[in-house]
Amino acid sequence: MGWTKACAVDALAPGDRQVVKVGDRKILVLNEAGSLYAVDNTCPHMKLPMKSGKVKDCTITCPFHRSSFDLKTGEVTNWTPFPPVVGNLLGKISPPKAIAVFPTRIEDGNVWVEVEGV
Ligand code: FES
Repeated sequence: MGWTKACAVDALAPGDRQVVKVGDRKILVLNEAGSLYAVDNTCPHMKLPMKSGKVKDCTITCPFHRSSFDLKTGEVTNWTPFPPVVGNLLGKISPPKAIAVFPTRIEDGNVWVEVEGV
């Protein structure tokens, strides 16, 4: 396990997000209404980037097939609902998978992310 400096706290105001590379992973670090979260930037459905996913009520929604994940636990709250019909078929081919989430902390004016194996 290892803590990696993601960015300066000042660079992550409420509503902001950044993608940081940690080892060979890309981690999406975001500030949602003053709370920091870090999730894998790769959607567990088809490995597409989560960077522009909508965030609401502690949930992030993939911009592609709109799977949604709890920002605290990574659990699936909705699986591939989009586009209608096709999304449901895609969801049946690939069973729901949680997104990886990572602990965060603030120290010395920076946001840190803990990623196992780094
Ligand atoms: S790639 Fe994210 S839901 Fe399909």
